[in-house]
Amino acid sequence: MAGSHHISRRDFIKITTAAVGTAIGAAIGLPTIAYLIDPALKAGTTDAWIPLGKLVDFEVGKPTLATFTRSKVNGWEKSVNSYGVFVLRTSDTEALALSNKCTHLGCHVNWDTDKQEYICPCHDAQFGINGDVLGGPPPRPLDRFSGDQVKVEDGTLLIHFLEG
Ligand code: FES
Repeated sequence: MAGSHHISRRDFIKITTAAVGTAIGAAIGLPTIAYLIDPALKAGTTDAWIPLGKLVDFEVGKPTLATFTRSKVNGWEKSVNSYGVFVLRTSDTEALALSNKCTHLGCHVNWDTDKQEYICPCHDAQFGINGDVLGGPPPRPLDRFSGDQVKVEDGTLLIHFLEG
């Protein structure tokens, strides 16, 4: 009789210890796991409205480069990328924004005021003021932000940016 009491007390302690351990694990472990998983979940967020500056600060008819950075979380790895967009203000309320990344192999294009063209220094491509290919190897125009990818809020120009 005494033996079986002894065993059941030990079992009781084992069960109690396991239960307390589980409770502590739940209290401490779950927030830790949620914290560790969180960066992985955020990896899916790759689009955002990016403010490029006050619209009035961009000269009408003259492409002006605006730059911004985006940090990207891939699992536990964080990287920061820089991007450039040429803003061509077309009126008091509207603007066209063009990526400065050449559609051939990704070099950065420059605006040449004299020629009124974007020039890619890598393989001598030329693009018109609206981004159309005028010469060289690029297969398509510069990536363009227009229509519902551009908006002006409280005087600030924003583009809807999708990170590839
Ligand atoms: Fe621009 Fe080749 S990368 S022309």
